[in-house]
Amino acid sequence: MDRGEFLPPEKRRRRRGCLVLSVVAVLMLVIVLAVVLGLTLRQEPSFKSTFIDRCEEFEGYNCEKIWGAFEQAYVGRDPCQVPMEAYDPFIAATPFQPACGRMMFWSKTKDLVHDFTEKKDCFVTLEDTLLGRVVNDLTWCGKEGSSETFTTGCPGWTYCENNTVRSFWKRVSAAFADVACGDVTAMLNGSIATPFSSESIFATIEVKRFNSSRVKNLNVILVTQENFVTNCTNASLKSLQKELDEGIKYNCKEVAEAQINECSSDPQKPCGSCW
Ligand SMILES: *[C@@H]1O[C@H](CO)[C@@H](O)[C@H](O)[C@H]1NC(C)=O
Ligand SMILES: *[C@@H]1O[C@H](CO)[C@@H](O)[C@H](O)[C@H]1NC(C)=O
Ligand SMILES: *[C@@H]1O[C@H](CO)[C@@H](O)[C@H](O)[C@H]1NC(C)=O
Ligand SMILES: *[C@@H]1O[C@H](CO)[C@@H](O)[C@H](O)[C@H]1NC(C)=O
Ligand SMILES: *[C@@H]1O[C@H](CO)[C@@H](O)[C@H](O)[C@H]1NC(C)=O
Repeated sequence: MDRGEFLPPEKRRRRRGCLVLSVVAVLMLVIVLAVVLGLTLRQEPSFKSTFIDRCEEFEGYNCEKIWGAFEQAYVGRDPCQVPMEAYDPFIAATPFQPACGRMMFWSKTKDLVHDFTEKKDCFVTLEDTLLGRVVNDLTWCGKEGSSETFTTGCPGWTYCENNTVRSFWKRVSAAFADVACGDVTAMLNGSIATPFSSESIFATIEVKRFNSSRVKNLNVILVTQENFVTNCTNASLKSLQKELDEGIKYNCKEVAEAQINECSSDPQKPCGSCW
């Protein structure tokens, strides 16, 4: 029984007021605690631990040493003053075996190509190798006078030429293209006017490094959508052909995006039949 019933109505009301107040206070405390706890638990893993965890997915590498070689490229530097050569020690610390005949390059087809290589085991992109995997989709930079790695407030891709992230991708793309061998495949985008863009990393770095002493063929897969804009006769693809080291054979095939998706989702289909 509620002892309040023996009190005069005036006091009973006051007491109920007190009770309501304390319930509200407790509720507020619980909410504050939940928020604080939630924030603590949800804290992002550090950039370094993400790097190391991803590195350790690959066998036979000294990931702490690779991290050290990576970090020295930008730590303590103005993030707009990191040339691609700054990552040379990282490349030297990360030797890898090229997958001759299975190397896949891409330009403006990132999501499709990675969905494809994830589902089908027959092609390897830069982002599937340790070189690209460790920082894929991440942003990082250093700061003058600091020994830390920052993941916010870093200059964007086009803000300055020699920024931490862009120079990294240029350097690892060069390393990947340097060892390209056998038949090389490139997935380009047929839904844009210029599938071989002279500003792309594919054009400025990769194609220039394909060496006919190792690369036999370049097979361009031009991915088309329903209302596709361009085809294999496009002039930019003619200039791609001209850029190639003499002796590398070139061919281009238009393939519908839907066909690639269908093929990658069907475990029965061998890769060779996707286009
Ligand atoms: C960027 O770095 C390269 C060396 O990789 C250098 O030749 C070039 O002048 C630099 N560009 C700018 C804008 O600092
Ligand atoms: C090609 O580029 C267009 C326009 O940027 C984009 O919408 C489309 O998803 C790209 N196609 C592929 C296969 O990535
Ligand atoms: C290809 O490699 C040979 C020998 O390794 C070298 O002399 C030549 O300059 C290279 N060509 C290109 C286009 O890099
Ligand atoms: C390719 O596109 C051009 C226009 O850009 C068009 O004239 C030509 O017929 C197309 N060729 C094929 C094989 O679809
Ligand atoms: C073909 O390539 C040239 C650049 O080399 C470009 O200007 C043109 O718009 C391209 N696309 C089409 C659909 O004609």
